[in-house]
Amino acid sequence: MFVYLDNSATTRPRDEVIEEMNVILKEEYGNPSSLHRMGLIIEKKIKKSRSMIAEYLNVKNDEIFFTSGGTESNNIAIQGIINRYNKKGKHIITSKIEHSSVLNVFKQYEKEGYSVTYIDVNKDGIIDIEQLREEIKEDTILVSIMMVNNETGAIQPISEIKKIIKEGNLQTKLHVDGIQAFSKIPLNIKNLDIDSLSFSGHKIHGPKGVGGLYIKKDLKLKPILHGGNQEMGLRSGTENTPGIIGLGKAVEILNISGLEERNTIKDLKKYFIKEIKENIENIKLNSLENEKGTSHIVNISFMNTRGEVLLHFLEGDDIYVSTGSACSSKDSKGSHVLRAMGLSDKEIEGAIRFSFSFYNTKAQIDYAVIRLKTRVEEIRDIMMR
Ligand SMILES: Cc1ncc(COP(=O)(O)O)c(C=O)c1O
Repeated sequence: MFVYLDNSATTRPRDEVIEEMNVILKEEYGNPSSLHRMGLIIEKKIKKSRSMIAEYLNVKNDEIFFTSGGTESNNIAIQGIINRYNKKGKHIITSKIEHSSVLNVFKQYEKEGYSVTYIDVNKDGIIDIEQLREEIKEDTILVSIMMVNNETGAIQPISEIKKIIKEGNLQTKLHVDGIQAFSKIPLNIKNLDIDSLSFSGHKIHGPKGVGGLYIKKDLKLKPILHGGNQEMGLRSGTENTPGIIGLGKAVEILNISGLEERNTIKDLKKYFIKEIKENIENIKLNSLENEKGTSHIVNISFMNTRGEVLLHFLEGDDIYVSTGSACSSKDSKGSHVLRAMGLSDKEIEGAIRFSFSFYNTKAQIDYAVIRLKTRVEEIRDIMMR
């Protein structure tokens, strides 16, 4: 049985998305900047995609910008804010558990002489709010915190974070990496009052190579790409029209069936954790079971095993999982997220991330748990020798 449990790394594009993209690739391949009919047709479709996303996030159409994906969205927002506001200060804040597309941007600014604070997290992977409160100073221009962690699914208290920032410095901007949150938890951007939010097509059953940014109306960013001034001057370059239309389609469907799909995933997570606990001994759950953890990610340490070996054993059973994040899993140092949560080397070594989508079924979970039990026992036997 084929079981794909690596939906945090990427998702299967919906059939409707593929069909819609095929039309753009085969027939409606005009450049939206062209003045003739083919340009106008595709321009209209881009407008529709933008409004689908704006409707989903409950924001205005001109607050949505298309990019080449989550990494670019984070870079445009973070660099755009810093480069625009650096006359007001050179202190920037992020957390220790961010995705590399945020952390590495901060590290670059640190090398360039900026003062950077990396906020700690507790054992559940939730950021230390009191430390954040103490760190916001007069020269703090930006705080960047992710909404949902890609390795554990921990949900950060963004509205509380915003409140603390406001109390500390009214000028400080808040960027939120929303890539693992979009479609997975309710998002009410207006209530959160954040300055920018990033999202990515391939994490929500859309295409790869396309993503977007919500940017609050009054926030002016300094572009990092210069050229033909597409995307209201923020992101030059001919638009990835099949990607944008595919992303719009994915979000159009979310507007209709997103809630139902979320509930399916919630049930799967509950069932999976129950089955694992009942069948496999000596494990450590690194994800929250309550409402502070998202439904689509479950991270577990299988003690006295090695995550990478387990991953490949499971691959032999046609079950696809991940150690930590897909991007950092080739990194031999182990997960920076689990380390920040205080896990021991042994716990980090045996950690596996399972991530679900509505395409998964209980029968798949049953099969995965049976194979997991066998594979974990095999590895433990070998390691005990
Ligand atoms: C939390 C988070 N931020 C950013 C990214 C990067 O997104 P993309 O793959 O679209 O560049 C990812 C992808 O793994 C992610 O999980």
